[in-house]
Amino acid sequence: MSARKIIIDTDPGQDDAVAILLALASPDEIDVLGLTAVAGNVPLDLTSKNARIICELAGKVDVPVFGGCDRPLSRKLVTAEHVHGKTGLDGPDLPDPEMQLQEQHGVDFIIDTLRAHPAGRITLCPLGPLTNIATAFQKAPDVVDKVAEIVLMGGAYFEVGNITPAAEFNIYVDPEAADIVFRSGVPITVMPLDVTHKALVTKERNDAFRNIGTPVGMAVAQMTDFFERFDKEKYGSQGAPLHDPCVTAYLIRPELFTGRHVNVEIETTSELTLGMTVADWWRVTDRTPNALFIGDLDADGFFSLLTERLARL
Ligand code: RIB
Ligand code: CA
Repeated sequence: MSARKIIIDTDPGQDDAVAILLALASPDEIDVLGLTAVAGNVPLDLTSKNARIICELAGKVDVPVFGGCDRPLSRKLVTAEHVHGKTGLDGPDLPDPEMQLQEQHGVDFIIDTLRAHPAGRITLCPLGPLTNIATAFQKAPDVVDKVAEIVLMGGAYFEVGNITPAAEFNIYVDPEAADIVFRSGVPITVMPLDVTHKALVTKERNDAFRNIGTPVGMAVAQMTDFFERFDKEKYGSQGAPLHDPCVTAYLIRPELFTGRHVNVEIETTSELTLGMTVADWWRVTDRTPNALFIGDLDADGFFSLLTERLARL
């Protein structure tokens, strides 16, 4: 089977970094056409720099990186330096990138790539706020039907919020963008906190990253050493939840994940629950299912896949 062509839309972010490394380490399954950076964990100038740092760490400097939207559609940007540090990639000491950011805007790259391929060939993998995706759909409605699938990290149901009591960060930052994407009719697979909070980097698992014995293995171990503070303090968890790598692992081994095809709608008005993903998990309404909402994973299988692939870089 030929590799799946994808665009990764990202706000690196240590967990974005691991997701991107996993994709770049798996060329038989994933053909990364480009990375589009979006404002999220840290402002756009840092997410677009971090995306290039990660490509260089992976030795994949031929992957084009584009700068996208620097703020949500209609709200002030909320960032997460308290989780990811002021650079967004705190932990390892990685050199500034030499590769240049592409001239083209990330939204236009998404539009042009979808227009240049037959319908059903391109998968979009958003790992941050959905601003770039929604902007592309608004600017070029003709491309919506060309998207094969959107596999995204965002939202929560049983786990509820990580940035407010009700909302997960990616959706909360730009709920209007999320609403456009979830109403678009594009097939969507969602990796919410419900599953990503089960992908925890325990000490043993992080030692396995470190023991790969390469600059990539060491950098990933140092990223998770830094990134885990927030969740350990807040949830008392056993380690950092690897949110975004659930997206790229799903593309490689979907059988590691289980979920339900349900209706998911986005709260965009109530200040109390803004950005909540209201998933009709128990099908108590007649709302039309619009997303495969993932609730569980084989965590050991996920980490052995991740460790084996990172060792290839
Ligand atoms: O809530 C977790 C999500 O927000 C992850 O994608 C993390 O990188 C941040 O963007
Ligand atoms: Ca992210």
